[in-house]
Amino acid sequence: MRNEATQVRGHTLAWYERLATLQDGYYYPWASTVADGDGESAYTGLVQQHLSPEVDVLETGCGHGVDAIAFAPLCRSLRAYDQVDRYIALAKKAAAERNLENVTFLSRTSSADRNGGKVTVPALTGSIDVVISRRGPTNWIEDVPRFCRPGAVLIQLNPLGSLVEDVWNGELPEGLRRSPSDAEPDAGMRSRIESRLSKVGLSLHSCWTYDVPEWLHTPRDLYRLLSFGNTPEEVPSWPQTEAALTEVFQRHAAPAGLELRNRRFLWKAVLPP
Ligand SMILES: C[S@@+](CC[C@H](N)C(=O)[O-])C[C@H]1O[C@@H](n2cnc3c(N)ncnc32)[C@H](O)[C@@H]1O
Repeated sequence: MRNEATQVRGHTLAWYERLATLQDGYYYPWASTVADGDGESAYTGLVQQHLSPEVDVLETGCGHGVDAIAFAPLCRSLRAYDQVDRYIALAKKAAAERNLENVTFLSRTSSADRNGGKVTVPALTGSIDVVISRRGPTNWIEDVPRFCRPGAVLIQLNPLGSLVEDVWNGELPEGLRRSPSDAEPDAGMRSRIESRLSKVGLSLHSCWTYDVPEWLHTPRDLYRLLSFGNTPEEVPSWPQTEAALTEVFQRHAAPAGLELRNRRFLWKAVLPP
């Protein structure tokens, strides 16, 4: 078992590839209720406002294609890419089952280290009107001037981390506890995005920070969240931690469940006409 310091967290290709062997697609495997006014719903609404039968859309880091499949009927064409082959295979299958003909799924990475040292998005030069990304990578911004049309709109939702402030984090069993570095400070994310945009001569058109409660339903859901993406060798097992997690619930849960914060950063940028 790995200890707290070495437990594998998200964002690396290896982590995503391993997650793809643990569950079918990218999704959160715990049950919870998120309060109204959250960032995920706001992102969906904002994207929908910018879709029409006249626009060609690119989705970066599309996972197993849930958004691409939902949004494709609302636009002219939608290209979606992800670095994990298994996700793209699932996405292609789902699109075929729905007879969606205007969506293309590509198993590609936009990372510079896998594209000869240059961030490269799998889209033709001057071919895209709207770029969307729900919790996907941010490196694609570097290639925007090449593949976007004048006036293109960029929309992304970035996670900000959730657990570190929670009073019960210190009561979790060793190996499941979160460290302060797991939470993204709001200002850190905003300045990272602004810095990437400014390198290509762009700035934020609008941005919003969302911070709403999310209630986990059961101790098992808390375990699913804390062990997300880790193999049984890397974290303590459910039987080993059930008693401690049940006690955390008994001490801290409200009738709605155990509360954590659901925090997101949503932003939009617009290219000059
Ligand atoms: C947090 S998941 C979100 C997936 C999906 N957008 C969703 O909301 O369910 C981030 C996704 O971005 C993909 N990703 C991260 N960096 C990438 C890169 N440089 N090129 C392609 N895909 C990348 C990961 O493989 C992963 O599927």
